[in-house]
Amino acid sequence: MKMSGFLVPTLRDDPSEAEVISHKLMLRGGYIRKLAAGIYSYLPLGWRVIKKVEEIIRTEMNNAGAQEVLLPAVQPAELWQQTGRWDVYGKELLRMKDRHERDFCLGPTHEEVITDLVRNNVSSYKNLPLILYQIQTKFRDEIRPRFGLMRGREFIMKDCYSFDRDEAGLKKSYERMAQAYKNIFDKCGLKYRVVEADPGAIGGGFSQEYMVIAQTGEDEIAYCSDCSFAASTELINIEKDNSCKRCSTGVLKTERGIEVGHIFQLGTKYSAPMKAEFLAETGERIPYVMGCYGIGVGRTAAAAIEQNHDDNGIIWPLQIAPFHVAVVPVNVSEPEQMAAAEKIYSELTGNGIDVLMDDRDERAGVKFKDMDLIGIPVKVVIGKTLSQGKVEVSYRGTDKKELVAPSDIINLEVLKPYIRKR
Ligand SMILES: Nc1ncnc2c1ncn2[C@@H]1O[C@H](COP(=O)(O)OP(=O)(O)O)[C@@H](O)[C@H]1O
Ligand SMILES: [Mg+2]
Ligand SMILES: [Zn+2]
Repeated sequence: MKMSGFLVPTLRDDPSEAEVISHKLMLRGGYIRKLAAGIYSYLPLGWRVIKKVEEIIRTEMNNAGAQEVLLPAVQPAELWQQTGRWDVYGKELLRMKDRHERDFCLGPTHEEVITDLVRNNVSSYKNLPLILYQIQTKFRDEIRPRFGLMRGREFIMKDCYSFDRDEAGLKKSYERMAQAYKNIFDKCGLKYRVVEADPGAIGGGFSQEYMVIAQTGEDEIAYCSDCSFAASTELINIEKDNSCKRCSTGVLKTERGIEVGHIFQLGTKYSAPMKAEFLAETGERIPYVMGCYGIGVGRTAAAAIEQNHDDNGIIWPLQIAPFHVAVVPVNVSEPEQMAAAEKIYSELTGNGIDVLMDDRDERAGVKFKDMDLIGIPVKVVIGKTLSQGKVEVSYRGTDKKELVAPSDIINLEVLKPYIRKR
């Protein structure tokens, strides 16, 4: 992509509406814009990050044997009445009527819809286990939408649902998803902790949250100094007693985190009231034993910024950066610089590397500032050193700088995992 003509409306100053750093930087870097409270447009840069996170999620979900579907955003009230949630979900559920005065809602989650789909289309134990997922826009009319993509009203979620014949099957599907979640957050380059959680409104049995460690996190986590135990402090009272029950030697400490993923063992909480049953080997009709598994896609991107930034802007992990490499010719009226820049640009893009070239007729300082703010991990500056046959490579968030021949940029170690022959 060339910067001239690319929609990146960067802002010099912090917008007053933003409280946390990820929100500030997404606005300042030209990633998102607000339409209404908790409702955002994704600009080209923001959408590229969302798609990178989604691709990581898709790959791991597919590898774990889950099948992708896309369910409707608009859901009929009848399904919610069958589980009783039409009455208990409260104001977060945005309700509406169609022209025939029938009740509908905008889906805040999809347990009812998926359970309905499976009860109508799957009937035998032979079809189990079945794991279905989607990446889709949810709507929750949050009282206090805030922090940009972190707590929106309209937001993109990956939601996944497993259907098994019994508890043992559910445990297997759950473990598979737990592993896929670890792979996903590892691949996103995040530091996180898996904690035991309160199942909340979705309900059911055992549940765990994936918490990205960050000071600005809305949740408090207790973790053991000695063993792997960690839990939401909503579940345990650490003021009274901070000794670890799991290992007896450890003490519990606290830190803050951002909930990016949540996995639940639901059991028959939805399948039983909805009479979603399959024919067992014994000939009996039995409700599916279900699990559900969510990831906030936009929140994951925001959490990555909370964890990776400095005074100059975002420092994206390469895995989810909108572009891997920034190519910056210092002076666009120097034909040699532009020729070298174009050559690097086409060689990298031809090999699957995502490159943003700043071909604008701006002062070098302005261009460097924008690239730092946007947070592209690798920057290639084409300036004076070109007369010695070199360009300068630097790595966002480090002091490392090196002079490299233009033809060797493609061989940079950090780019190896992303090279794809086209
Ligand atoms: N208002 C929101 N804005 C952005 N992401 C959200 C929002 N609510 C939930 N998410 C994301 O979706 C995931 C699954 O949601 P879920 O656990 O059902 O919601 P909650 O934790 O609010 O009960 C969460 O782990 C989080 O990453
Ligand atoms: Mg949750
Ligand atoms: Zn312990």
